[in-house]
Amino acid sequence: MRIRCSRVLITGGGSGIGKAVARRFLADGLKVTLLGRHQEKLDAARTELNNENVFTLQGDVSKVKEIPGYLEAAANMMGGLDGLVNNAGILLPSERGWEPWDITEQEWDQMIGINLKGAFFFMRDAVDFMLASGVKRGNVLNISSNASCMDITGPYGVSKFSLLKLTRALAKRFAPSGIIINGIAPGATATPIIRHYCRDENAPYARHAIGRFIKPGEIAELAAYLMSDFGEIICGHTVVADGGDQSAIL
Ligand SMILES: NC(=O)c1ccc[n+]([C@@H]2O[C@H](COP(=O)([O-])OP(=O)(O)OC[C@H]3O[C@@H](n4cnc5c(N)ncnc54)[C@H](OP(=O)(O)O)[C@@H]3O)[C@@H](O)[C@H]2O)c1
Repeated sequence: MRIRCSRVLITGGGSGIGKAVARRFLADGLKVTLLGRHQEKLDAARTELNNENVFTLQGDVSKVKEIPGYLEAAANMMGGLDGLVNNAGILLPSERGWEPWDITEQEWDQMIGINLKGAFFFMRDAVDFMLASGVKRGNVLNISSNASCMDITGPYGVSKFSLLKLTRALAKRFAPSGIIINGIAPGATATPIIRHYCRDENAPYARHAIGRFIKPGEIAELAAYLMSDFGEIICGHTVVADGGDQSAIL
């Protein structure tokens, strides 16, 4: 199995799923740029990954005007750019509920700004950048969530379901130009974002039919597949990897 691209920007690459994808891609000799808001998190990830092919870039995906500059900077560091893992995302603080009145306007704007607006403009601008720089075989992988398969009131489910639709639409538009766009909708994966209910990745987790949490490295294997030559025939779909989550209705 050969990954189609070789120089990949991973938003939210300083932790969790993004860092695991970086580790998987580095094992195949790819170059990766990890982008996130906190430089110390990026530095720690680079130290942990311990590979000369890791680059870091401090940035915020919700700052849409900055995105072309992030792409340019990543391409300068890696000697080009032919892949994007559109992974940065946030979840509401654990103590808040999922009822309509649990969300504030500020939280709505922040989550939609990062999870949806940032993801859309990053995908659009990355495709533009790749095509303008002559890339003939490029990839985008959007990290959605199996929250898109649930009736969740509030912006998280909305943002992730919308990303799934954008994945489909843009994939059809750009596959003829050689840019393959796919998505993953993970279930509960042992990363910092769910630290409020997953303190031990080996703990039992009854909501998943498989009885356990998903490991970030398992999502990374699927990412490698979807961004490989084999992933071309998936084109535009978001693969749900949620261990048979009992709460999912789709
Ligand atoms: N873990 C799960 O159970 C699960 C399930 C379904 C979907 N997902 C999705 O998977 C993706 C990765 O999450 P994760 O589980 O790996 O959790 P994580 O470790 O918290 O990773 C999220 C990353 O996104 C970065 N980030 C957040 N806001 C950003 C912004 N505005 N600009 C740039 N980077 C930003 C964070 O770094 P900074 O704070 O330094 O910016 C962090 O490195 C998210 O989109 C999440 O919604 C996770």
